[in-house]
Amino acid sequence: MGVVITVGNNKGGVGKTSVACNLAVALSRHDKNLKILVVDNDSQSNATSILLGDRIDPNYTMYELLNPEEPPAPIEKCIYPTGHAGVFCLPNTEDTSILEVLLCQNISDSFHLLRDKLRAFALEKFDFTLIDNPPTIGMWLTLSLVASDFAIVPIDAGSAHSIEGLQRVLELIEHVQQSLNSDLRFLRLLVNRVDKRTLISKQILELVRTKFEDYHFETYIPLNTAIQQAEFLGRTIYEYDPSCRAARHYKKLANEVLTLLGMG
Ligand SMILES: Nc1ncnc2c1ncn2[C@@H]1O[C@H](COP(=O)(O)OP(=O)(O)OP(=O)(O)O)[C@@H](O)[C@H]1O
Ligand SMILES: [Mg+2]
Repeated sequence: MGVVITVGNNKGGVGKTSVACNLAVALSRHDKNLKILVVDNDSQSNATSILLGDRIDPNYTMYELLNPEEPPAPIEKCIYPTGHAGVFCLPNTEDTSILEVLLCQNISDSFHLLRDKLRAFALEKFDFTLIDNPPTIGMWLTLSLVASDFAIVPIDAGSAHSIEGLQRVLELIEHVQQSLNSDLRFLRLLVNRVDKRTLISKQILELVRTKFEDYHFETYIPLNTAIQQAEFLGRTIYEYDPSCRAARHYKKLANEVLTLLGMG
């Protein structure tokens, strides 16, 4: 029986995609028997580019899975192997942004759409399902939270704005928990892009430690250009440079996640 985890924050560029993809690979490297699915719930399709790159041009994506105007595509068809053993991707495409207009017409039914299409299959076939989300508090993030057991919220240690916007995503998690999915739990805040040479990184780490005491990961992800270089090539950091600093921190993060969930 697996778990489904939303990676979300309404703030853009904080590392949601990078966390979903690299944590997935770190988990698979920790234990070769684990099966991990990354669901790209963002029509920007950045997770799809990192995980499938130029290797696979998928015919079936979130668009085919969720389009209410076409016969539904079976979920099995929408899942593709990545370059990493045990890691799979449910890709997205720009077209999916158009679906929002259709799905909004019947919004209260739509909130359960991803849960209904994904959850039973994901729990049976995968140990971990990580859902990457767009940088908005809106329909897609709500769909993801309704389908999930846990939420991880990455923040950017290089920006003072990361703390300001945080309240809104935490409120949405609480709202979904109270009205749509009582099983949902906020797992942890994850501080990304830490550069300990800078005052802002030290201040954000300190603020998170005091304000979120037990609700932040002990592990942080350092600012590391290997992440950007890997992304530029349509690769995860493990394909680009498995010994880079960020890869070592993702290894620690995978251990922390497994311990927290009683799977370590
Ligand atoms: N720890 C890091 N060190 C250096 N660069 C990073 C790190 N984490 C992410 N990046 C880079 O920062 C940029 C934003 O990261 P990413 O795309 O993962 O954020 P996001 O929250 O998914 O963005 P969006 O809101 O657009 O979906 C990317 O270019 C990524 O390669
Ligand atoms: Mg992203």
